[in-house]
Amino acid sequence: MLVSAKEMLEKAKAGHYAVGQFNINNLEWTKAILLTAQELNSPVILGVSEGAGKYMTGYKTVVGMVNGMMEELKITVPVALHLDHGSYEGCLACVEAGFSSIMFDGSHYPIDENVAKTTELVKIAKAHGMSLEAEVGSIGGEEDGVIGKGECADPQECKSIADLGVTMLAAGIGNIHGKYPDNWEGLSFETLDAIQQLTGEMPLVLHGGTGIPEDMIKKAISLGVAKINVNTECQLAFADATRKYIEAGKDLEGKGFDPRKLLAPGFEAIKATVKEKMELFGSVGKAN
Ligand code: 13P
Repeated sequence: MLVSAKEMLEKAKAGHYAVGQFNINNLEWTKAILLTAQELNSPVILGVSEGAGKYMTGYKTVVGMVNGMMEELKITVPVALHLDHGSYEGCLACVEAGFSSIMFDGSHYPIDENVAKTTELVKIAKAHGMSLEAEVGSIGGEEDGVIGKGECADPQECKSIADLGVTMLAAGIGNIHGKYPDNWEGLSFETLDAIQQLTGEMPLVLHGGTGIPEDMIKKAISLGVAKINVNTECQLAFADATRKYIEAGKDLEGKGFDPRKLLAPGFEAIKATVKEKMELFGSVGKAN
C-alpha cells in the first residue's frame, strides 16, 4: 500500500540520511525502481511530473499501475507516489486519483500567492493523510533554455512557507535540473545552512540530483536535506544501455527485437543507477 512520505522523511532527517525520489516514465522505470528499493530494503519515492503523468495517459493509470505492481511484486518497503512540480490543479487531480504525496511548486508566484495557495493545499493534504512538498526559490535548468546558476531561496521566505505546516520543503540553493554546465558554481551551503537554522526539523528537499558530486550530496545531507530528486541520470543510463544494445546489432540477432529483450539493458541500467544513489544517500536498510 502506498504511504505518505511524512514518516520516512522525518526518520531520514533524524537519522542523517536521505530518501531518493526517482521519477518514473513507464512500466520499466517503475518496476526497476520498486524492485531495487525492495532488494535494498530502502524506502523510496516515485516522482511523476505533470508531463510524465500525461505521457502515461493520466494520473489514474499511474496509480493503477503502481498499486498493481506493488501487490504483484510483493513490495513491502515504504513507497510514496508523489506529484513532482505540480500546479494547484494538478495537485487536486492527484488527490482525486489516489497519489499519496504531492508537490505544489508555487515558486514562480509572488511569495504572498505562494503562501495562499500552499495554505489551501496544506488543509487538503492533511484531510487525505498525504504529504505535501512546497517550493521556494525556483530551480533553474535547461528546460527554460537558461543554463546558469540556479536561484538561491530567501531563508525568511522558506520559514514562512515551512510554518504553514507543509511536510517537506524544496529550496533553491544553486541546484539545477538536468546536466550541470561546466562553469557551475556548486551548491550554496551558506544558503542551505541559513534555511536549516530557520526551519529546524523540516525535511529539506534537494532537486536536480543528477550530476551533483558525492561530497556535495553528503554535505547537503549533513545540513538537513532528507529527500533528493533524481530524474535525468536514470534517463541517460537507460538511453546509453539501449544505444549500446542497438549499436552492437543485438536487435537483429534472433528475437532480439522483442521489447522484453530490447528494453532489458536499459532496465538493468536504471536499477544500477538507483542502487548507486540509494547507497550514496544512506537509505539502504532503512525501510523499517
Ligand atoms: P534531475 O533531472 O536533474 O535529476 O532533477 C530531478 C528533479 O529534481 C525532479 O524534480
